[in-house]
Amino acid sequence: MVENQITWLQPGYRVNEVLNIAVTKFKAAGVAQPVSDARILLGHSLNKPNERFYGRENDVIQSEHLDDFSKKILRRCKREPVSKIIGVKEFWSLELQVAPYVLDPRPDSETLIEAAVKQFPDKNRILKILDLGTGSGCLLLAALKEWPHSYGIGIDIDYRCVELAKINARRNGLNNRVKFQTGNWASNLDEKFDIILCNPPYITANEIATLDEEVRLYEPKRALNGGPTGLDCYTELAPQFSNLLSAEGLIFLEVGFDQKKQILGIMRSNNLELIKIEKDLAQRDRCLILSDKHC
Ligand SMILES: C[S@@+](CC[C@H](N)C(=O)[O-])C[C@H]1O[C@@H](n2cnc3c(N)ncnc32)[C@H](O)[C@@H]1O
Repeated sequence: MVENQITWLQPGYRVNEVLNIAVTKFKAAGVAQPVSDARILLGHSLNKPNERFYGRENDVIQSEHLDDFSKKILRRCKREPVSKIIGVKEFWSLELQVAPYVLDPRPDSETLIEAAVKQFPDKNRILKILDLGTGSGCLLLAALKEWPHSYGIGIDIDYRCVELAKINARRNGLNNRVKFQTGNWASNLDEKFDIILCNPPYITANEIATLDEEVRLYEPKRALNGGPTGLDCYTELAPQFSNLLSAEGLIFLEVGFDQKKQILGIMRSNNLELIKIEKDLAQRDRCLILSDKHC
């Protein structure tokens, strides 16, 4: 049972005392990284977001902001992710704003950017990039950072994600090379692209109930739920892909680590050809690189 009182921290406590209180509570709540989470949240509460307090454990905290830290501790004890509490998450060295209605960018998804960089090593190229299911805009914005003369379109079915992605583009100085718009995948598009990035929802409906509370309770279901088999979105996307590719165009498609075989079947029956599979940091198959057989 998570308590709701916020009276246990007082100005005059030392850094190590408040951190110890937070860490003890996080451990009791089953938080996976209690120490680093406590340090990050304390920094944010004291309006020093980059401070981690190493070597400053004996500093006395004279701050009315400790109330804010108490509230953040309670939220984390209810397993709300740190990113959702502080409102930002890093992806590909970009700092992105996040919100309850948008999926937190994941390190696994950086595999798509790494894969694209390997396939298109010339950073001076002017590439046209499409990101389907853009969420926070993380994939497209990371790609635009890599190819500084390129431009792109990001689509999401949720207008709130589109608005947040625009904010993230401005925040990272990329807004003049990107357009974010609402849409049902690419149904409103009649253009060709050199790079298509796509991380669709791919968790099976049953599996969602077994995920960590951080995901199950705080990530938007629309960003996770791939239907009864997890494959619904791939089936919707596959017939759209080949119409969207330029002559040398490639698709970088994120997949669940155990879904490769079925998804390749769907893609092949829509005239798409596998170029390569890239693995994530845990060495699991994560990114299919596909091209149009007819190009
Ligand atoms: C797994 S999240 C990926 C978000 C982001 N690209 C990332 O990698 O973190 C999937 C995204 O697809 C969006 N989405 C779901 N169905 C869609 C559809 N039919 N058309 C466009 N976007 C859709 C969701 O709103 C969600 O933002």
